[in-house]
Amino acid sequence: MLNDLIESLSSFKKEVEAAILGAETEKALEDIRVGYLGKKGKISGILKGVGALPHEDRPRLGEKANEIKRAVESTIKERAEALSSFARQEKLQSEAIDLTLPGRRVLKGSLHPVTTILKEISDAFLPLGFVVEEGPDIESDFYNFEALNIPKEHPAREMQDTFYLSEDMLLRTHTSPVQIRTMEKYDPPLRVLAPGTVYRCDSDITHTPMFHQVEGFVVDKGVTFAQLKWTLTSFVHAIFGQDVGIRLRPSFFPFTEPSAEVDIECVICGGEGCRVCKGTGWLEILGAGMIDPEVFKSVGYDPEIYSGFAFGMGVERIAMLKYGIKDLRLFFENDVRFLNQF
Ligand code: PHE
Repeated sequence: MLNDLIESLSSFKKEVEAAILGAETEKALEDIRVGYLGKKGKISGILKGVGALPHEDRPRLGEKANEIKRAVESTIKERAEALSSFARQEKLQSEAIDLTLPGRRVLKGSLHPVTTILKEISDAFLPLGFVVEEGPDIESDFYNFEALNIPKEHPAREMQDTFYLSEDMLLRTHTSPVQIRTMEKYDPPLRVLAPGTVYRCDSDITHTPMFHQVEGFVVDKGVTFAQLKWTLTSFVHAIFGQDVGIRLRPSFFPFTEPSAEVDIECVICGGEGCRVCKGTGWLEILGAGMIDPEVFKSVGYDPEIYSGFAFGMGVERIAMLKYGIKDLRLFFENDVRFLNQF
């Protein structure tokens, strides 16, 4: 009788251990524990037979039953640990990061080349005592033309391809009106730099309807053409390098007399002659001259007391020469493949 019971306990142990090893989830394992070891479980069923045993055999069966219970519990525990470690491993595997994948690129912004050049231009002039003045993009005929000694019907108006807003108002075609506005506001001495956008009705690879200019002018007693030349030379050296030579050619502007066009040695070929400088070895970069007495009269300065010089340059043109950019329109297309290079 006792041996039968012990026998069935042993085969119970084998059976339950096989079930435990087959359990695939923690839930299945818990079902096995309840089904085999619980109050209504199989082992309780076997132990019911204890009542039929003589008193002296009962402790041995109890002992055996406890031993098997402990063994089964520890097998359950081991299996539970194994299952949770599988689960962890699986989780790790599913969340694995492939360190060999290329990283996501961080896109970096950069300053627009016009902004960069504008800053370089002011860096060249501010140490010489120039201060920045600005004027409106929408100008009157008076500031853009009349006060600059360009009367109505003057042929110079035709060179400018003006966008008129009305009979009297227009988009400024140059930054020179800032000369007039500043001289109306202040008495000499003046040393002024006036950057800004200007507008001309023109569009091809070297012209856009809007572009940037920087105007510069100095008014004081005894200002000379030599000072103009020195100032521009120092500017060219700051932007293009100490070795780049400049030359002044006689020219004409209604608001300067005498007037000059300023060339620099070709920065592409070094002066030998190439396509960019059209074989001349020189590149035109700005217009300049001594401020015309007529301009002083229109702002109430006495030309017998004061003299001055003025110059004006295209910012995009300077940037094109400095960076070797062939098409002016690139500046305004906002193509990041272009902008990223600066
Ligand atoms: N305003 C002239 C232009 O737009 C440039 C210039 C400025 C020339 C000052 C002489 C003096 O072409």
